[in-house]
Amino acid sequence: MVLSYFTKKMKYKNKKYIPLDNFINEALYKSKFGFYMKKNPIGKNGDFITAPNISILFSEMIAIWIVSFWEKLNYPKNINIIELGGGNGEMIYRMGLSFKNFPSFRKACNLFIYEKSPLLKKIQMKRLKEFNIKWINNLDYKLKGPKIFLANEFFDSLPIKQFLKKNDIWFERYVDISTKDKFKFKEIKSNIEKLEKKIGVKISKNQKFIEYSPLCFKYLKKISKQILNEKGGLLIIDYGYLNDKMINTLQSVKNHKKSNVLSNFGNSDITYNLNFKLIEKLIHSLRLQKQGITTQRNFLIKLGIMKRAEIISKNLPFSKKTDIYFRLKRLIDINDMGELFKVMLITNKKTKFQIGF
Ligand SMILES: C[S@@+](CC[C@H](N)C(=O)[O-])C[C@H]1O[C@@H](n2cnc3c(N)ncnc32)[C@H](O)[C@@H]1O
Repeated sequence: MVLSYFTKKMKYKNKKYIPLDNFINEALYKSKFGFYMKKNPIGKNGDFITAPNISILFSEMIAIWIVSFWEKLNYPKNINIIELGGGNGEMIYRMGLSFKNFPSFRKACNLFIYEKSPLLKKIQMKRLKEFNIKWINNLDYKLKGPKIFLANEFFDSLPIKQFLKKNDIWFERYVDISTKDKFKFKEIKSNIEKLEKKIGVKISKNQKFIEYSPLCFKYLKKISKQILNEKGGLLIIDYGYLNDKMINTLQSVKNHKKSNVLSNFGNSDITYNLNFKLIEKLIHSLRLQKQGITTQRNFLIKLGIMKRAEIISKNLPFSKKTDIYFRLKRLIDINDMGELFKVMLITNKKTKFQIGF
């Protein structure tokens, strides 16, 4: 049934192979089949869970970090906070509650969500009724005043391309959509120099394998235009690694378990780990700078998550206390999200803000 999906689409008529990013895009975001289009995938009953849904402490720390940034920017009267990919709305919801403790910030701040999935947008609208939030449909949207873009597990959900080098020749990974029984990978010769010219970054230097998201590059370019001459920045919190050498990190997750990337079309999440060195290369070419990069563990501890856990668990019964610390452990443990997730702040070259790093 799913294999016939491609044959039914005009766009794919007579096509035997499609690039990997094209395949992922169809599997996650297209028509009624798309993983993100038909159900809420986040949470216990979904396929995966994200930090804001593990513990409210996560969103509280992000809220505190934003207020500190605003103070550092000298309390501008207007500040725009834009969440990229709002999921079930949990992060903005908790942040909105935290902002109530900072009335002058609350007055100055405008909240926005950039969301692709109509279903998740609906869920967000329902959850966030009590806050004044605007949904935007593109990242060229003109906003007055400083802007802080927040991307928690956003970039890892964008489709990627993969390339591999064999005997000094680069091949791009495609998916064979013509077979009757199952999808298969297919490698096709590729002109990497032409691609590098197009994207403006030498991605193949010292590599045998390349993994990159064209959409991530496109969005970073758009965001760079928004922050190049404006205060603010982009905070990325995501699965990722810091080595120069790129590796194959493509994975698929169904019901909180790893599954095969080419099976379960539309029914499993397909993600990858960001190579933060590659992101750095791109932001340099865009005349931006990295303020800092650290692990989620360090970031949250520096922002005071331990103290906050102590405060909210005071006077609570033992079972509630245990629950708070169990969730906190998932966020900061070195064998869990604490090390797997990295946090990076990107700004223009005039800005200086090091809190959390
Ligand atoms: C893994 S979820 C993370 C959700 C949320 N940030 C959290 O931490 O719970 C990825 C989110 O990004 C959205 N998304 C993915 N690709 C997008 C795109 N190209 N434009 C806008 N939103 C997108 C998804 O629909 C989903 O809401």
